[in-house]
Amino acid sequence: MSIYVDGLKEQGKTFGLVPTMGALHEGHLSLVEMALSQNDMVVVSIFVNPTQFDNEEDLVKYPRTLNQDVTLLSKVSEKTIVVYAPNAEDIYDQVVKSESFLFDGLEFEMEGAFRDGHFDGVGTIVKRLFEIVKPHRAYFGEKDFQQLQIIKKLVELHDIDVKVIGCPIHRAVDGLAMSSRNTRLTEQHREVAPFIYKTLKSAKTKFGTKSAKKVKEWVEKQFKLQPLLKLEYFTIADTSTLKPVKRKSKNKTYRAFIAVYAGDIRLIDNIALI
Ligand code: PAJ
Repeated sequence: MSIYVDGLKEQGKTFGLVPTMGALHEGHLSLVEMALSQNDMVVVSIFVNPTQFDNEEDLVKYPRTLNQDVTLLSKVSEKTIVVYAPNAEDIYDQVVKSESFLFDGLEFEMEGAFRDGHFDGVGTIVKRLFEIVKPHRAYFGEKDFQQLQIIKKLVELHDIDVKVIGCPIHRAVDGLAMSSRNTRLTEQHREVAPFIYKTLKSAKTKFGTKSAKKVKEWVEKQFKLQPLLKLEYFTIADTSTLKPVKRKSKNKTYRAFIAVYAGDIRLIDNIALI
């Protein structure tokens, strides 16, 4: 992969990288389209990265659909899209283990608090992909907003020469944020799952006039009335530090973040507030 991209770079081509774990859906494809519009060449990496899973069952059951993914990508554009699907040995050599990272405190909030070692795993794989592919630009979805902020921090702290580009959340028509995990939802859970985004939208409206504490209490109450969904966390946080907001300030922007269990499947979503 390195030799291949070096050759193309020598010809003066620009490269965009879209890192994924496969089981591609329209959300991923929207990143690929953005990358295609801004670069001569696009590399899509597909690798189910073991070190970012804190739950063995989630890793084992994570959908692996490489042939289907390649077919989907071949229909996106006339342009060539390079698929990089490494093995664990290509990435990790002998020992499948994360590096330890500090991300200025971003790693302790939300997903970092609830998923042990998750962002060390993400940092390790993304840093490694940057070393191998050496892209000019890399594309990440706001669906995983905390991950996006952490990658920007990784690039800043490690002085990596790549421009990190955030892309908007792609949703199903009923509002559910697209996710590879959605295919594992039961019919019943899939039916109630749009409740997550509906509640986020109402929370956004309420945050216009109410405190973060009051909005959080309201959201928690809504989920208690919804037996098929179990709220793990709802947090209103400062967009740049990701610290929970205590008092609203006019010169800051905020986002609401949510994690919910629909049966065994963990879903996350977020929304920009004011
Ligand atoms: P994965 O969950 O496959 O997601 C790959 C990229 O697609 C991420 O940047 C994610 O935010 C984006 N994405 C997923 N669903 C989206 C949606 N509905 N709308 C917009 N973007 C969406 O995130 C990972 O993989 C991994 O952590 C990875 C970065 C590849 C490292 O292993």
